[in-house]
Amino acid sequence: MNKVAIIASGSGSNAQKIMEYFSDNVEVEVSIVLTNNPEAFVIQRADNFEIPTMVFDKKDLYDSDIVLNQLLKLNINLIVLAGFLWLIPENIIEAFPNKIINIHPALLPKYGGKGMHGLNVHKAVREAQETETGITIHYVNKDYDEGDIIHQVKCKIDQQDSPEIIAYKVRKLEHQYFPKTIEKLLF
Ligand code: GAR
Repeated sequence: MNKVAIIASGSGSNAQKIMEYFSDNVEVEVSIVLTNNPEAFVIQRADNFEIPTMVFDKKDLYDSDIVLNQLLKLNINLIVLAGFLWLIPENIIEAFPNKIINIHPALLPKYGGKGMHGLNVHKAVREAQETETGITIHYVNKDYDEGDIIHQVKCKIDQQDSPEIIAYKVRKLEHQYFPKTIEKLLF
């Protein structure tokens, strides 16, 4: 059995797509959804799939092995960051070498780094008058958005596209490609 842990901070639309994609797969299990945000809608989404959830705070993540031990206890094969906005600490990175991936809503190395998430990214892309943007799925290391790139997909930006329209286009790509990329990495 391939065991996946999802870590998310917010709505969890990507988590939803991943849980849906693997729900009928007997070889892949989303074993747990972890979040730093007790209000995050991703908790509700996980409940709907009867997937266990864990809420953690900064101390649990950075000053203890609570999160690490949970991941080890469950024998997780792949940790998927789906809209998680904090850095992953070194104890977890060292315990899961090349086993942590993230999705970023732009074509890294552009428009990455601290503070670059959600609409901030699409506003920056718009302001720079880019004619294309896209998604980047990459390995996670100790710096924001700097691990090796696994997969990128591009989409066109029309001159009149608002940051919200760009977000919509990018979100569609995320939903289409993230679960499939996870599957490829697992097998
Ligand atoms: C996604 O667009 C993801 O690319 C982005 O957060 C969103 C989460 O949406 N991640 C980052 O910006 C990481 N720097 P979701 O909660 O609906 O899946």
